[in-house]
Amino acid sequence: MPWQHSLLLLYTVLSECESAKTQNLKRKFPNDFRFGAATAAYQIEGGWNADGKTESIWDHVAHTKPCAIDNCSNGDVAADSYHLHKRDVEIMRELGLDYYRFSLSWPRILPTGFPDKINEAGVQYYNNLIDEMLKYNIEPVVTIYHWDLPQKLQEMGGWTNPYIIDWYTDYARVAFELFGEKVKNWITVNEPEQICYFGYGNNLHAPLLNITGVADYLCAKNVLLAHAKAYHVYDEEYRPNQGGAIFISISAQYYDYEFKEYKDAAEDANDFTWAIYSHPIFSKYGDFPSSVKERVKAKSIQQGFPRSRLPELTPTEIETIRGSSDYFGLNHYFTFYVYRNESVKGLYPCPSKDDDLEVAIYQKEEWKGGQINVNKIVPSGFYKLLTKIKNYYNNPPVIITENGFATKRGLDDDDRVTYITLYINAMLDAIDDGSDIRSYTVWSMMDSLEWLGGFSECYGLYEVDFESPQRTRTPRKSAFVYKQIVRTRELDWHYEPDTDVITIDEGH
Ligand SMILES: *[C@@H]1O[C@H](CO)[C@@H](O)[C@H](O)[C@H]1NC(C)=O
Ligand SMILES: *[C@@H]1O[C@H](CO)[C@@H](O)[C@H](O)[C@H]1NC(C)=O
Ligand SMILES: *[C@@H]1O[C@H](CO)[C@@H](O)[C@H](O)[C@H]1NC(C)=O
Repeated sequence: MPWQHSLLLLYTVLSECESAKTQNLKRKFPNDFRFGAATAAYQIEGGWNADGKTESIWDHVAHTKPCAIDNCSNGDVAADSYHLHKRDVEIMRELGLDYYRFSLSWPRILPTGFPDKINEAGVQYYNNLIDEMLKYNIEPVVTIYHWDLPQKLQEMGGWTNPYIIDWYTDYARVAFELFGEKVKNWITVNEPEQICYFGYGNNLHAPLLNITGVADYLCAKNVLLAHAKAYHVYDEEYRPNQGGAIFISISAQYYDYEFKEYKDAAEDANDFTWAIYSHPIFSKYGDFPSSVKERVKAKSIQQGFPRSRLPELTPTEIETIRGSSDYFGLNHYFTFYVYRNESVKGLYPCPSKDDDLEVAIYQKEEWKGGQINVNKIVPSGFYKLLTKIKNYYNNPPVIITENGFATKRGLDDDDRVTYITLYINAMLDAIDDGSDIRSYTVWSMMDSLEWLGGFSECYGLYEVDFESPQRTRTPRKSAFVYKQIVRTRELDWHYEPDTDVITIDEGH
């Protein structure tokens, strides 16, 4: 047989196996695998100035630049979870979640930003929520910082001021003191790239600073050190009695190459956007990736800066950061192709992180898209990313802390069902191939204020009616599908839910 024919035969067999794997079989999860769903304080709580809470940088943006957020929306009321925590816990029970990931609002707990004054009403809100969850065996996974910095601290430089390492650690200590008896899973910081590049290097997130190539790199160093210092405080002072886990959530999109000559460019794109945060923590020797250090230094010198715009980590700082996370908390949404050639030179402002990296990205037309999401559904990218993390960092335990897809309003969210099913399937492939993945969290349990995207980007398993004073929550089709996965601990390709009414199962 000519080789082409045998190759063709091999492909036929392979694709039949693939379809057997994905379409006929029900796939089981490992026995101790756990499922959750996530939200964040500013996106759902509302009560922006209730009972002593002060302004965060997101309140400040919404109030001083009222149309920065889509449709001129703000988070003043949002999903009103500040008043509806009992309904939120009921949703967790309807879904049968093992855990719920939510965040604490720093200015709700510490109105001055500092621990000189603790706002009892804010503390009470979180105690009520946690106690209600524990009553039904739903474990709290608590993000200490999910982007709502006290505005006062921003006025002193926010994440570019190295003193924030102490400010943040003081706040984290208050959280351990207040809730550590009941909370056994802590996430220090959510998505450093979105804090630093989106917020300080661009105008995509509060504080909309847009000082790229400088402020984003200062922020990167301070976020890493703040995270690491809080980790060590917990590890040394609280873990011995409280016995919990503490880790960081890093947002990593996957940058791939379509043509071999762009392999290095794709590698650099992964390094500049997420490994800049994960290498210092999870790699064997710590520190920023060498590609980032070298490129930023060379560009800086060329541009007339006396030293690299990327601050150095001292040997002591490298040691402090290295190993400072019990899990690799991973938020993942999308995959892109990357290229770097003459056409990219001079494309970006100078200096800037984009110019330092100097790549362009694109997605293939033929990749499946969604109803509104400009980004495509590429589950193979998720598999490759998980495999890269396994190979980079000697197979660390991974917790998927976010994964999800936006749709328009409406309860028939087939795009989200497709996305979640395919991505969970890709995750199971990675587990089969040796990745140590412990749990999966959908973003998001319900619709919320999607930052500058406002209320028009819906990520919720539950739809929230933002027009109704009750902020009514209604399960979408994806809620029924996810509930079935959690209940049966398997992925059933053929499951078609009866979406009439969602009930609370025994045991929850
Ligand atoms: C953000 O900064 C870049 C330069 O780095 C500039 O080209 C752009 O216009 C700025 N955007 C805004 C909205 O200020
Ligand atoms: C650069 O690469 C892109 C993507 O492969 C291609 O479309 C473009 O024509 C190339 N430009 C140059 C100047 O080589
Ligand atoms: C935009 O704002 C208007 C007026 O408040 C509201 O009626 C409409 O539902 C909003 N649309 C979205 C997508 O939030």
